[in-house]
Amino acid sequence: MKTLNVIQSKVKSIAYDTDENVLVCAPTGAGKTNIAMLCILHEIEKVINKETMTLANPDFKIVYISPMKALAAEIVEKFSSRLNVLKVVVKELTGDMQLSKAEIQETNVIVTTPEKWDVITRKSDGITQKLKLLIIDEIHLLNDSRGPVIEAIVARTLRMIERNQLPVRLLGLSATLPNPGDVAQFLRVNADKGFFFFDQTYRPIPLHQRFIGIKEDKGYNIKQYVVSSDRDDTNTKKLRSYPKKRIEDSMNEMCYDIVRKNILEDNQVMVFVHSRKETIRYATYLAERFRNTGENYALEGKKKSHLIGKFKSRDLERLAPTGIGFHNAGLLRRDRNIVEKLFMDGNLKILVTTATLAWGVNLPAHAVVIKGTDVYEPNKDIVDLSILDIQQIFGRAGRPQFDTSGDATLITRYDKVNYYLGLMTSTSQIESQFLASMKETLNAEISLGTVSSISEAKEWLKYTFFYVRLMRNPTIYKKDLGKGKDAVSRRADIEDFLQEILINAVTQLHNLRLIRHDQRTMFLNSTDLGRIASNYYIKTETMEHFCKELKITEDKQSGKFLFNIK
Ligand SMILES: Nc1ncnc2c1ncn2[C@@H]1O[C@H](COP(=O)(O)OP(=O)(O)OP(=O)(O)O)[C@@H](O)[C@H]1O
Ligand SMILES: [Mg+2]
Repeated sequence: MKTLNVIQSKVKSIAYDTDENVLVCAPTGAGKTNIAMLCILHEIEKVINKETMTLANPDFKIVYISPMKALAAEIVEKFSSRLNVLKVVVKELTGDMQLSKAEIQETNVIVTTPEKWDVITRKSDGITQKLKLLIIDEIHLLNDSRGPVIEAIVARTLRMIERNQLPVRLLGLSATLPNPGDVAQFLRVNADKGFFFFDQTYRPIPLHQRFIGIKEDKGYNIKQYVVSSDRDDTNTKKLRSYPKKRIEDSMNEMCYDIVRKNILEDNQVMVFVHSRKETIRYATYLAERFRNTGENYALEGKKKSHLIGKFKSRDLERLAPTGIGFHNAGLLRRDRNIVEKLFMDGNLKILVTTATLAWGVNLPAHAVVIKGTDVYEPNKDIVDLSILDIQQIFGRAGRPQFDTSGDATLITRYDKVNYYLGLMTSTSQIESQFLASMKETLNAEISLGTVSSISEAKEWLKYTFFYVRLMRNPTIYKKDLGKGKDAVSRRADIEDFLQEILINAVTQLHNLRLIRHDQRTMFLNSTDLGRIASNYYIKTETMEHFCKELKITEDKQSGKFLFNIK
């Protein structure tokens, strides 16, 4: 990289030249990672000896929180290749990559996940004492089920800053969202200084997005929205109806139509599906469709590659000569590399893949299609494909240097289409999901000793994104809360509501023996069980189950818990 791009140039005077907290909302591919780099360099500049170009004081920490474990290694690589000359140590700390205490000690830039950083800071604030800069990537995740983790981390950090009077700079990086002001307020960003919003027009390659909802009906119904970043219009139209079929069959057909149109225009296409088996099944389906219509000539690569005959996988060996490949985590590393290379070189026209490819490999295509949004998770029911995955996949559309635009389509169920459309085009406000895991988070704070009474808990809550949204939009969190009231009574209602949810949570934690709520002193104290739940990230429901099955009893005199194992 030689020069800053447009958005980086606009942010630079604040990011690199000041200590302001910063929130940057910008589209995928806009170059937000390098804004983090600017902030990191600003911190390093403070501790560097300009003569020797080494760290005069290496005893500082910068933490980069990325929700995708798969990206952590890439970020470490990116940062350390630039910072190694200054002897700045950059390391990954995730479930895949553990660090010993000594290693953490000598690391300057820690790249980690929200959950990992949450667990570390639940145990002690020793490490956070040295924290200078906290970077939170993909902060729009606040809206996701993992959002409460980010809220907990930020609230803990902000309170620590006030308690210890140690400045820690916060940097939030986000996709575009409709209520960035709320996120800025949550991060204590000064609105006229550190707040930057760049809309879709700042995407390096304009993106045409299409959201298609399919419903089983007489025949079946389709709702389609088209959003273009260059025209910025949304329109709905009814596509042709197919005869009555299973919804999966309709999705297969719809996806084929889009793939076919692109192939006849000589574009490459990536199709994203949600299981390994489905990658093979759908690649086979497409090969048959093209063969049956005699249009398979359009799939032929410009030049034949000798690699096409080199696969270990029988299915790839069979499909690749037709110009269609598939990719999933079950393939041998070698086969995966060949598929990637063949697609990159244009020998394969279509690639059917699972979402892992969107994260791990930088493979762009003119068009991407997501076929369906139902994802089967092991031990869970069907869950919705996450908005993060969709953003990552849509970000793969359009090849820099080759295309003037990209084409991205999401095919989903009819009743889900507005949900995805709203989130992807940032018309739905992002809300807090904090209440869903407040018990666990409160338990963690009590265990850490940073909350020791209900009134202190109430103060703590005021540092969350939940509180920001609650003040703005209370009825989302409780029906009719503060409705039709003047500002003063509305405020009082909100205070009562906070009191009520806290008493509720405290009572439940007390009954589960994770904390003790002393009725005389009103103090909240942690117990061994509470500390176990906090340190090992165990849900309160699981703790309850565990105590019941192991028949754990409490020795009233010593306060110790006794296991009753026969
Ligand atoms: N100033 C620059 N000059 C040239 N290339 C750049 C510059 N800044 C960033 N890039 C490149 O642009 C690509 C996208 O950057 P980056 O991953 O930071 O985007 P992002 O805004 O974080 O997007 P996402 O929302 O997908 O995370 C990367 O390949 C990066 O190397
Ligand atoms: Mg990014």
